[in-house]
Amino acid sequence: MSNNSIRNIVILGATGPIGIEITKPLLNADPPFEVTAVRRQNSSTPWPFLPNPHLQEVAVDYTSTTSLKQAFLNQHVIIEAFNPSTAIHQDRIINAAIETSTIKHIITPDFSSDTFHQNAGELLIFEPKIKAQRVLEDLVGQRNDLHWTAIITGPFFDWAIPKNLFWISPTTHKLTIFGSGTQRISMSKLDIVGRATLAVLQNPKDYLDRLAYFADYTISSNELLDMLNESDIDKQSWTANTIALDGWLSTATQLWEKDTADGVEDRLNSTAYRMLGTYGLFDEENRYGADFGDRVEVGFGMGREEFWDVLWGVVG
Ligand SMILES: NC(=O)c1ccc[n+]([C@@H]2O[C@H](COP(=O)([O-])OP(=O)(O)OC[C@H]3O[C@@H](n4cnc5c(N)ncnc54)[C@H](OP(=O)(O)O)[C@@H]3O)[C@@H](O)[C@H]2O)c1
Repeated sequence: MSNNSIRNIVILGATGPIGIEITKPLLNADPPFEVTAVRRQNSSTPWPFLPNPHLQEVAVDYTSTTSLKQAFLNQHVIIEAFNPSTAIHQDRIINAAIETSTIKHIITPDFSSDTFHQNAGELLIFEPKIKAQRVLEDLVGQRNDLHWTAIITGPFFDWAIPKNLFWISPTTHKLTIFGSGTQRISMSKLDIVGRATLAVLQNPKDYLDRLAYFADYTISSNELLDMLNESDIDKQSWTANTIALDGWLSTATQLWEKDTADGVEDRLNSTAYRMLGTYGLFDEENRYGADFGDRVEVGFGMGREEFWDVLWGVVG
């Protein structure tokens, strides 16, 4: 398939914050892509988009391959931007893709840390993504003209800071330092999901059957604290709240196991998820690949000043 023949894009989970950021640049492209936003049949998620002739809404039953095939009819690319709990349907999604000859490329349900890393399984939170990868790898070989890309972004700092999910708190002027503060972390602005997706759709041959690393900046907590205090814009100094990581993994694992016993399905907002995710980022041996600054795709990444401007736009 030539690059120009990719026009019809189906986005599963388009109504979430990540799906929205993927949809926007596809509709603003010149010419715009034709986007089908797929929702669950019983979805109560508010529709977040203005009317647009290039955007249509389709409801699917994820438990039915037939329903998925109807949504995929005449589509070229599937983007899996759903809540990770939906990844349990990956076998039906991939089978429906295989049986739909127009589908040539799948962007996998990642958009997060390096879930392909050899140690990622230890963190438990990536289990749905890792299982989805295995299903994909097992099935996708049935068609040699069907390809995939996994987009790895690291944490979205501009999305996480206002939600108090990041280690910078603009309200208290504190930066929480987990461990020694030396571990560097590759991180991104939320809109990287749209920029990265466009890069893949415009040059799919450059991204065939592999994970692709996209990050805006790689920095440690100590370097962040210095950066916040260097600025002469801010008259108030920033201080560190240091938290040792000893025992985190076992406490978080216990909480995760309790959630499992309690039948918690949507884990994204649980304490266990946050603790395990934090541990995965701050392990000081880079055990989970949080620093992937040396593998970022060409054309991506910000300079220090640009990063500072974006960061200050969020914390200032
Ligand atoms: N790197 C980061 O910092 C970061 C941050 C957040 C998320 N992510 C990743 O980005 C992807 C999408 O995350 P998101 O925050 O956009 O997801 P989300 O808002 O929880 O879900 C996205 C959409 O999926 C559908 N959905 C399916 N099952 C659902 C369920 N059980 N609960 C809620 N929604 C469900 C909903 O659409 P309908 O109701 O319309 O069907 C929802 O709007 C995930 O892979 C996540 O791991 C990464």
